[in-house]
Amino acid sequence: MLALAGAPLGVRCLVVEPAAGAPAGVAAEVITAPYDDRAALEALARRCDVVTIEVEHVPVASLEWLAERVPVRPAPAVVAVGQDRLEEKRLFRRLGLPTAAFAEPGQLSGGFAAGTILKRRTGGFDGRGQARLDPTAPGEALAGATRGLGGPSVAEELVAFDRELSLLGARAADGTVATYPLVENRHRDGLLRETLAPADASPALTAAATESLVRVMEDLEHVGVMALELFEVDGRLLANEVAPRVHNSGHWTIEGAATSQFEQHLRAVLGWPLGDPSVVAPAAMVNVIGTEPDGSAILAVPGAHLHRYGKAERPHRKIGHVTVLGADERQRDERLESIRQLLAGS
Ligand SMILES: Nc1ncnc2c1ncn2[C@@H]1O[C@H](COP(=O)(O)OP(=O)(O)OP(=O)(O)O)[C@@H](O)[C@H]1O
Ligand SMILES: [Mg+2]
Repeated sequence: MLALAGAPLGVRCLVVEPAAGAPAGVAAEVITAPYDDRAALEALARRCDVVTIEVEHVPVASLEWLAERVPVRPAPAVVAVGQDRLEEKRLFRRLGLPTAAFAEPGQLSGGFAAGTILKRRTGGFDGRGQARLDPTAPGEALAGATRGLGGPSVAEELVAFDRELSLLGARAADGTVATYPLVENRHRDGLLRETLAPADASPALTAAATESLVRVMEDLEHVGVMALELFEVDGRLLANEVAPRVHNSGHWTIEGAATSQFEQHLRAVLGWPLGDPSVVAPAAMVNVIGTEPDGSAILAVPGAHLHRYGKAERPHRKIGHVTVLGADERQRDERLESIRQLLAGS
């Protein structure tokens, strides 16, 4: 989607992707190689003006090697923070952003009173690398679940949140910042299902989230798009995670905002002025998970836009998304309901 956004701007992308058949192949030249493949990294260093990431789990050592040869944005140290849940939480704490209670499992004798969610410090996504424990689970269960995750983890208190929100923004190389509105995210089985943009939120809530995101971007001297995932509890916001990259909860911006998150990220990392982040119409994004839907039925819904990634069908895998726009929230919600029904099997 970055490569697609770059095409009309004359930005040509060279993509390194370990898995064969990378979706980027429709719009970019692809090198199929592991992220630490020396020849692939040399090609990036030799041929690119700037290197960026679209997924988080790229070895920091590869980015550091590249950064000695070509500008890498965001900086490898920023990517490193986004890869490690404990470092993210330490950052939130240092910047005064409230989070769910957390601890390193070794420091806990039992779980949290409200229940515990264990998360691998690195490598988790879409709810993978996590385990949940009841408040009544004995200490041994915590120890067993920790071992089961197969790597260092963080223990978090389970939060009975009212809803999940996220805020995306971008910071340019010259420090200019542009932020999108707060959006509402609905998850199931640890996987993002729907994003509603903008969220039905007070200006004060949006201002609080925006202030938090800007504080993180400025502290890290981030360059590019960044997403801050939040829980809303009784009108308060808890920071969950930060992603120094384009984000699934920003896919609606392709049709729903004046500048998509993908174009915005390219503008930022290329040292260009940021674009207008304002909303053009109320939008909803629904992920296509596991199986391909009936595309023509979706396209028959007014205001619907279908994005197919060309990925093989597999349970629990995001293989596309649909964004639907409406003239107002009511129309958007009606159309969203039609899309939900068409995607019900996926
Ligand atoms: N402390 C918590 N209390 C309650 N629910 C939680 C908590 N932490 C995570 N969850 C739920 O699990 C989902 C996935 O967790 P999280 O975002 O931390 O991990 P992830 O697998 O890395 O997700 P992503 O796909 O966003 O990278 C959250 O969106 C939320 O629905
Ligand atoms: Mg998340």
